Amino acid sequence: MNLSLVQSNICSYLHLLLLYLLHPFFRHRHNLPPGPPPIPILGNILQLITKNPHITVSNLSKKHGPLMSLKLGTRLVVFASSRDTAKEILKTHDRDLSGRYAPKATPIDESDLKKFSLLWAADVSAQNWRSIRSCWKEMLFSNSALDFWVCVRERKIAEMVKFLEGKSGDVVEISVVVFVTVYNALGNICFSKDMIGLEDEEIGSVWKDIIWRFMECSTTPVVGDVFPSIGVDFWLWGPKRDARNCLDRMFGVWGDIVRRRREEEASRGAPGNERDFLGFMLENEFSDLQIKYMLLEILPAGTGTVITTIEWAMSELIKNPDAMGKLREELRSNVTHPNAIRESDICQLLYLNCCIKETLRLHPPIAFLPHRAKSECQVMNYTIPEDSLVMVNIWAMGRDPDIWGDPFSFKPERFLKSGLDFKGRDFEFLPFGAGRRMCPGWPFADKQLHLILASLIRCFNWSLPSYNNNNGHKKFEFELEFELDMNEKYAVPLRKETPLLLVPSRV
Ligand code: HEM
Repeated sequence: MNLSLVQSNICSYLHLLLLYLLHPFFRHRHNLPPGPPPIPILGNILQLITKNPHITVSNLSKKHGPLMSLKLGTRLVVFASSRDTAKEILKTHDRDLSGRYAPKATPIDESDLKKFSLLWAADVSAQNWRSIRSCWKEMLFSNSALDFWVCVRERKIAEMVKFLEGKSGDVVEISVVVFVTVYNALGNICFSKDMIGLEDEEIGSVWKDIIWRFMECSTTPVVGDVFPSIGVDFWLWGPKRDARNCLDRMFGVWGDIVRRRREEEASRGAPGNERDFLGFMLENEFSDLQIKYMLLEILPAGTGTVITTIEWAMSELIKNPDAMGKLREELRSNVTHPNAIRESDICQLLYLNCCIKETLRLHPPIAFLPHRAKSECQVMNYTIPEDSLVMVNIWAMGRDPDIWGDPFSFKPERFLKSGLDFKGRDFEFLPFGAGRRMCPGWPFADKQLHLILASLIRCFNWSLPSYNNNNGHKKFEFELEFELDMNEKYAVPLRKETPLLLVPSRV
């Protein structure tokens, strides 16, 4: 290589470097939404390395406005945190902004994601996304499917009540009991079988942790997310490896169930009588891999979100005796058979509905709706470039004093007057999202949340245990005056940092 060629190469590299270092100043030229100035190479990453990035982002938005952009490495991320910006993104520009970006820690090959994933499908116009969504709707979430499975949901909750009766006076970890209940309801809908016995508390706790850990690890940002061009695939350590381990354990169990069903059908020479999701998939000749990937989105999404919501609802009610009293009174006067609450009883329980909504306002399991710009578009006179990540910050919106009076207090009655609902039409309240990407599982979640919370409160009084270290032995006493830890742990789903332990006694 001659000297002049080397010199011209060095010159062009320096040129590129200069452009890169100056890129913060181009924000104005591209008319990007405002945001804190990024530093070279890392952008705003250092600002977000905190225990609670959702709180940090929300505080930054207060300063920079309801449409804010941050640079994370080489990636532009736009955060929307008001009713109007959410509406622009999820309604006006839903077509352009309904893409998804699959986090790099997701332990699934890109080609499999493309073929099998609903949650991480890059584009809603893909045939695959549409057919999975309509298959879910037909089998799981349409009105007729929900009606068909009502007995299963009610039976599983009656079993939970019976189990808790036997635990009167003992300490229970509420999220484990609810996890097993919901996992078994979904297990019956998918496979016509219970997945875990309620009395197997240790196994329940292990599986709850596997599912939470899978959701958390597979959505943890890694280097490749912020510097896609580095493109290193860390399989050997970090969140991706942990997510892979959880995935292997889940696929191991579900794969066995699918294999056994196939063997039974082969030996019988005909399909079984089960009218469950697995039967439907086998009848429609889905492959084992397709079935496992569908289960991977139904079972974690269906259990993880519901259990955190119930754990938060119980925590808020215990902390707010007034609200607890009103809910109890409503349940006592409307539910006359406390051993067998029916879903048909639920529609008249307005205060219960307000308690669920108020819990989802303060504690949405998904703090940010994670979208991607499929093409460049203009939102409120700002440019959102193609391929930017677009996050609707529903956590911040739920605590915005411009939307909610006394936003940090748990006041279910605010929903009695407002008439706001979570069906994706009221853009100030979006726990299930809105538009094309809106949660397909919301009708199931809605039924589960109401029936579980109604049963827990109608059938039991609850108190907090307080531990005394008595000669090295732990013993609990009931506390009347208590401080309940309400700290959040940032993850998907957003949950309580310390699990809620409670002592039930039968009403
Ligand atoms: C309290 C319960 C739940 C809450 C709060 C919740 C919330 C959400 C939110 C906020 C989204 C993202 C929407 C968006 O990107 O705009 C979502 C998506 C999704 N949810 Fe749920 N969800 C819940 C229960 C469920 C259940 C029970 C299932 C299934 C059994 C489920 C399956 C999914 C799936 C597959 C997606 C991705 C949809 C897509 O990208 O097209 N969720 N959920």
